[in-house]
Amino acid sequence: MSIHIKRRVLALSELDDMSAYLEAAREGERKRIAMEMHDELGQLLTALRIEVLLLRQNVLEDLIALQKADEMKRLVDSIMGVVRGVVNQIRPAALDFGIVPALEWLADDFRRRTRIPCCLIAAGPEPSLSEMHAVGIFRIVQESLTNILRHASASQVEIRLTKSGSKIELVVSDDGKGLDMPVRRLGSYGLLGMAERARMMDAHLKIDSRPGNGSVIKLHVQEDDRR
Ligand SMILES: Nc1ncnc2c1ncn2[C@@H]1O[C@H](COP(=O)(O)OP(=O)(O)O)[C@@H](O)[C@H]1O
Ligand SMILES: [Mg+2]
Repeated sequence: MSIHIKRRVLALSELDDMSAYLEAAREGERKRIAMEMHDELGQLLTALRIEVLLLRQNVLEDLIALQKADEMKRLVDSIMGVVRGVVNQIRPAALDFGIVPALEWLADDFRRRTRIPCCLIAAGPEPSLSEMHAVGIFRIVQESLTNILRHASASQVEIRLTKSGSKIELVVSDDGKGLDMPVRRLGSYGLLGMAERARMMDAHLKIDSRPGNGSVIKLHVQEDDRR
């Protein structure tokens, strides 16, 4: 018996839909893995830490055993740190509280690390976003802030998230030195990654900059609360 599979060439828009669908599925899977690691591994490590502390209580008289117990506790603490880091890489934990608190966390973290003033202005009600859109917006802001720190020599940064109707506008601006060449000629992956995320979200991304006059990253996207 032979099976005939009808083959046809996919249109570009169908390929776009398909890759957006796959990306959404991947984000969902990442969220599940991150939660599983956080909950399961986190609990086991907490239990192990308690056991080590109890063991330590029983060997207070034995100096060598006491040193070993302290070393084990240090190791467990660093494994817990690694797990937290990996979980955060897979899926930013800050998103558990919604996009606005997550961006607030990014702005706080940026201010704390760089001492550069960075404010978040969120206008309109909290947008209701799918996992892919929330992660996309978070990662775009994160990469913009990393770029500002690395390249801009800025003294002021602003993140603005505005929702009006079902339209969402995100603007990340700095007053630094600006991009020194046209965006399309840049071969590095940060800005390309942002553009790719925007494409997956069916969003419009624009990077405006004049040398010496700061830079502005603008994203326009439709609210999408399919979860
Ligand atoms: N906010 C910014 N201010 C000034 N230059 C920037 C800014 N963001 C990006 N750039 C420039 O654009 C280039 C490409 O950025 P990116 O793709 O993120 O790559 P990378 O950060 O790895 O260099 C940077 O190397 C830098 O020259
Ligand atoms: Mg970069």
